[in-house]
Amino acid sequence: MPRNEESSTPIIMCDSGIDALPDVPLTRRPRHIAVIMDGNGRWAQRQGLPRIEGHRRGVTSVRNTVEECARLGIEQLTLYCLSSENWKRPPLELEFLMHLLEQYMIEERSVIMRQNIVVKIIGRREGIPERVQQEMDKTIALSASNTGTRLCLAINYGGRAEMVDAIRRIATDVQSGQLTPSAIDEATVASYLYTSGMPDPDLMIRTAGEMRISNFLLWQISYAELWVTDYCWPEFGIEQLHEAIRSYASRDRRFGGLS
Ligand code: IPE
Ligand code: IPE
Ligand code: MG
Repeated sequence: MPRNEESSTPIIMCDSGIDALPDVPLTRRPRHIAVIMDGNGRWAQRQGLPRIEGHRRGVTSVRNTVEECARLGIEQLTLYCLSSENWKRPPLELEFLMHLLEQYMIEERSVIMRQNIVVKIIGRREGIPERVQQEMDKTIALSASNTGTRLCLAINYGGRAEMVDAIRRIATDVQSGQLTPSAIDEATVASYLYTSGMPDPDLMIRTAGEMRISNFLLWQISYAELWVTDYCWPEFGIEQLHEAIRSYASRDRRFGGLS
């Protein structure tokens, strides 16, 4: 395997045999990237199109981002697809989002398998139509034995709801005697979250410029590096992903300590 001369770090090669990010050694790349994919509606409105066209175009950005993360050897990618607060939107927009989800699960299955991607879904199942859940489960089951990049889709996800669900399960286990309160530590709490077993996000990307977290991965992002771009999600491409990773690679992560 070729090596970066400066760092002597093995470089992951993309399909064409050329590393897409040769200036960022593997050891400086984030293990886990989380993305708040925002701005579909604004992008569409600027083009004089209905909001749903923004969501449709957003799927292309999802495809490109997933593919590039797999090529770069990123271990985990988590995409915020639908928040638990997004149910406040008009029924027709929600219906279209459900249709897109179903279509994605069906149409991307072969690509997911070819790219050796493992799919996981986090969030509450309530409100997701049965037929969409079935397609989600098929993709999860089919990709379960893959060994490449792990793609986690946050659907009907809320960070606070996730904590409520975790606390309920912890309380149940304490009540049944399986867990003692004094034994609960940060690792215990993490193991009761939807993201149990996943590394915390190293890099959190948000498109469309808002400087907020919008209830995404509240526990897990405690030390994530944030990168916000004014580009809307349908405009987000490989170039922007590389820019975010380069920015991440240049940061000094201190975790409360000293450099
Ligand atoms: C993000 O784009 C997609 C979802 C939240 C489902 P938006 O639909 O929030 O687009 P804006 O923020 O209104 O432009
Ligand atoms: C966050 O975007 C949720 C997703 C990207 C799925 P929103 O558009 O819902 O966030 P707010 O309402 O601007 O905070
Ligand atoms: Mg938005």
